[in-house]
Amino acid sequence: MDPKKTLSITDNRTGRTFEIPIENDTVRAMDFRQIKVEEEDFGMMLYDPAFTNTASCKSRITYIDGEKGILEYRGYPIEELAEKSTYLETAYLILQGELPTSSALEEWSYHVTHHTLLHENIKKFIDGFRYDAHPMGIVISAMAALSTYYPQSKKVQDAESRRLQSYRLIGKMTTLAAFAYRHSRGLPYVYPTNDLSYPGNFLSMLFRMTEKPYKPDPILERALDVLFILHADHEQNCSTSAMRGVGSSQADPYVCIAGAASALYGPLHGGANEAVLRMLSRIGNLDRVPDFIRRVKGGETRLMGFGHRVYKNYDPRARIIKRIADQVFEVTGRNPLLDIALELERIALEDEYFIERKLYPNVDFYSGLIYQAMGFPVDMFPVLFAIGRTAGWLAQWQEMLTDPEQKIARPRQVFLGAARRSYVPMKKRKPLETTHA
Ligand code: CMC
Repeated sequence: MDPKKTLSITDNRTGRTFEIPIENDTVRAMDFRQIKVEEEDFGMMLYDPAFTNTASCKSRITYIDGEKGILEYRGYPIEELAEKSTYLETAYLILQGELPTSSALEEWSYHVTHHTLLHENIKKFIDGFRYDAHPMGIVISAMAALSTYYPQSKKVQDAESRRLQSYRLIGKMTTLAAFAYRHSRGLPYVYPTNDLSYPGNFLSMLFRMTEKPYKPDPILERALDVLFILHADHEQNCSTSAMRGVGSSQADPYVCIAGAASALYGPLHGGANEAVLRMLSRIGNLDRVPDFIRRVKGGETRLMGFGHRVYKNYDPRARIIKRIADQVFEVTGRNPLLDIALELERIALEDEYFIERKLYPNVDFYSGLIYQAMGFPVDMFPVLFAIGRTAGWLAQWQEMLTDPEQKIARPRQVFLGAARRSYVPMKKRKPLETTHA
């Protein structure tokens, strides 16, 4: 073993030294298991709540340099993709590893477009939800329900089957999202139109009102497509780790995506765009911004849309979104909440609290303002995030399934609970002094 490529660890309990190989600036957690005091000990583990410093996989999909604010899909900078690519092309890139030739893109787009229809029964399923059901709840449930329509999707080791499910999932995600929206509005469902682009068809399924063909506004159609590109993947975030974790048990991709979308739903992840809008509405006017910032610094609340586990610099996606916002507002009119957002950002970027903690706007800070200006209700925002992220979830799922080093995900724990004891008869039990969390 090259001594320059190892980590020497001395266990001061025993005085023994171990040479742990270093590969790609990482050490293998299993190499620590040999570190023991007694031969019969289990061996040392690594403790890392919330996985803040643990790589769970090797990946070739998305690269992030959080200090510099760099994001690349398969080596291509997000700025170039946002300017030159489409969501469907980017989805192909993320899944296949290379940009498609024109015939490959045509074929890929054809298949996704021809898998947008849902089984008619799914409409009944969606109809069963209350009129005010959160669309994310509807999409997650309906996505899990789709698993029952495609039992052959259980063949997760079959590359052909995975390809077919990818067409279906990317295609049907927009239809499910649009149906969830129409349900909440009490409007009839609009079926997909094959001669529209991916975002154009989605806008048609959402907003078409009469039998007349729907013509999406080209600026809004492009803005939505770019937003989908920006959300397409973000390496091992909470929802992607859920996708990999659920998928590692070889569950079918529909329930895996339902699991990933559930993780996305929370306000600290994809639900943040919704939380930002609610926060801006609550602040209501510019005069209240300083007081809100004071409360954030006092730990009473969080500045939603700020901060990131990985980015310790301006999120490159937020920069692009800010530019798109100007184009969208030219069509829709300016979102009155924009001024509050700009003022929050101005104060935060100058304030010691935020500077010290490296808190910058993330992807969710401005995206909601665009969505709202485009006519989306606030509770649709996380659904829009999920549409874009579907390509990334599928690519990461596929990478996990084809990686010979991966197996069912099964973290360890540090057990600190009660030692073995005998069952206590009812008469001898005492009431709990505190309730368990
Ligand atoms: N507002 C105020 N303070 C914050 C914020 C915020 N948005 N985010 C982090 N902090 C503070 C936090 O209180 C802590 O301070 P201290 O060291 O004094 O205790 C410090 O910054 C570090 O925060 P953390 O919670 O340890 O950081 P984390 O890496 O665990 O959390 C985060 C990352 C994104 C969950 C968090 O920044 C946050 O809650 N942001 C608001 C929600 C949000 O916008 N989420 C969307 C993330 S981007 C889209 C996506 O990928 O889903």
